[in-house]
Amino acid sequence: MSLTGLFLITFLTIHLLGNLAIFMNDGGVAFNTYAVFMTSNPVIKLVSYLLYFSILLHAVYAVILWITNKIARPAGYAIEKANANSSWASRSMMLLGSLIFIFLILHLKDFWWQYKFGGGYEFTFDDEGNRDLYKLVITQFKFTFSLVVYLIGIVALSIHLWHGFQSAFQTLGINHSRYTPVIKFIGALYAILVPLGFAAMPVYVYFFL
Ligand code: HEM
Repeated sequence: MSLTGLFLITFLTIHLLGNLAIFMNDGGVAFNTYAVFMTSNPVIKLVSYLLYFSILLHAVYAVILWITNKIARPAGYAIEKANANSSWASRSMMLLGSLIFIFLILHLKDFWWQYKFGGGYEFTFDDEGNRDLYKLVITQFKFTFSLVVYLIGIVALSIHLWHGFQSAFQTLGINHSRYTPVIKFIGALYAILVPLGFAAMPVYVYFFL
């Protein structure tokens, strides 16, 4: 779980940086050029398959762990003092992960399915002759339903990362009185800044474009 989690964290960073092209105010040319590169470069194509596999592995393994834990202790504890020794984020990883998974299905259906598999949307072309994925993103983010779904998914992602980032290092055995506080700090910063960057995109399109 930790290795796939760290790989997904790396993907999220690249995905965020690439998508920042939305803010370039160039009619989508940079955004569409970036999308062409990401879908035609053979190395990135290969990494994409690793990404899909990691998402599935991360989710399936989470469900197996969750079921195993339930079987190990079906009745729960006689005295629940969960707050005393664990955070809400750590106890809700399954709930948050499920929300992110639902968000991801909707997200992939909106863009990835249309762009890569011709999901029914008729693409127009931008000034550079590339399919206008930017226009599809703008059209989608103008719907209030989309805005709400994206914000819920991104808040779930933020809390999931808040615990998941440092937990991944701990699972790998990186636990040290000097380094762990630094990892926790970087994890907290990441869990705030990356989701803020993603949230800024639908908010910007909905309110300012
Ligand atoms: C809110 C801002 C976001 C925008 C504008 C955005 C945009 C896009 C677009 C246009 C695609 C299809 C083109 C492509 O495959 O590169 C895509 C694919 C994808 N997105 Fe997003 N995305 C956002 C947030 C997220 C978040 C928060 C996640 C994860 C929780 C995510 C996960 C993915 C995945 C896994 C793919 C498939 C990538 C691949 O095939 O290599 N996206 N996104």
